[in-house]
Amino acid sequence: MKAIVLSKCGSPDVLQISEVPDPHPTANELLVKIHYSGVNYADLLSRQCRYSWAPKLPYILGLEASGEVIEKGKDVRNFEVGDRVILGVQSGGYAQYITIQESLALPMPNHFNFQEGASFLATYFTAWIAMTEMARVREKEVMLVHSGAGGVGTAAIQLGNALGLDVHATTGSEHKRQKIKNLGAEPYSYDDFDQKMPVKPNFILETMGGDVFKRSMKILAPMGRLVSIGATGIQYSKKNPISLFKAWRAIPRVSFRDLLRNSKGFMGLHVGYLRKYPEIIRPAWEKLKALVEEKDIHPVIHKVFPLSDASKAHSFIHARKNIGKVILDPWK
Ligand SMILES: NC(=O)c1ccc[n+]([C@@H]2O[C@H](COP(=O)([O-])OP(=O)(O)OC[C@H]3O[C@@H](n4cnc5c(N)ncnc54)[C@H](OP(=O)(O)O)[C@@H]3O)[C@@H](O)[C@H]2O)c1
Repeated sequence: MKAIVLSKCGSPDVLQISEVPDPHPTANELLVKIHYSGVNYADLLSRQCRYSWAPKLPYILGLEASGEVIEKGKDVRNFEVGDRVILGVQSGGYAQYITIQESLALPMPNHFNFQEGASFLATYFTAWIAMTEMARVREKEVMLVHSGAGGVGTAAIQLGNALGLDVHATTGSEHKRQKIKNLGAEPYSYDDFDQKMPVKPNFILETMGGDVFKRSMKILAPMGRLVSIGATGIQYSKKNPISLFKAWRAIPRVSFRDLLRNSKGFMGLHVGYLRKYPEIIRPAWEKLKALVEEKDIHPVIHKVFPLSDASKAHSFIHARKNIGKVILDPWK
């Protein structure tokens, strides 16, 4: 089969397509024909050897995909050949086929096509866990989403509206601000959200780190909750000690005294590390799937690249051109 095997780290042009052996399912695994593969910001970090959840080199890049079951191991009980599934994996998404334990495969929402299936898990499920399981948002609360035009950001805006929240979001350009306004969020820039928001947020989904994180903690309402899921705003070069030091200083940190005096909370989330707790994942997934089906929510997809152009897909995201999701077609 064709796949993108990451064998050395570097710029997008290290992503070259190669021919690798087809996978075969063991007794409790499914063999899935991948229809589309999601590209995530974390893949860009993996490609640069900056992602802590990545396996050791070499491995097939890619954290999520949609597809159909084409074969099942003899002990598989809950899936049949032909079932449409969504997969969240530590590696293996940028390929034509993948095997996965049946306990880790998820049935695709009924109203999704395969492109939407590949655009869903890493973004919506992350936003959903942060909003409902960690911050426990309630109707009419004020939510601020940072990087609202990205994959996670657009998902969080849609979910916030579906849950009846008052949704506000930041983004890096005027063009994107107009887009997220159309999606149902009051838009701001990273520079002025803390000055311009007319109300204090009860919940903040934080993706940037650094100064954006610090100013976000300051504007949380009493009893407010901030969930940090990334630090996209922190860029550094391993060869430049000054940039490394600045990056280290920009990592989100909180003062216990500040939390205590202002009665607010800071939490961190990584959905990858949560995979080992099916008792958390399964019920949260069922609730999310039911909501997107009931409210007819569809992921915002910006562009589909052929798998052979994975390097162009990464460059596109580096250039901050995407509004919503970028996906790969492994059959082109
Ligand atoms: N913890 C978890 O479980 C988890 C799961 C999924 C994602 N995440 C994190 O959530 C964040 C968003 O992920 P995503 O997959 O939704 O990414 P995405 O679609 O690429 O969106 C990221 C957004 O960040 C902004 N950005 C700021 N600085 C950037 C830079 N130097 N390069 C590229 N974009 C930059 C861009 O929006 P503007 O141009 O508007 O600034 C971009 O649209 C990332 O930090 C990611 O690591 C965490």
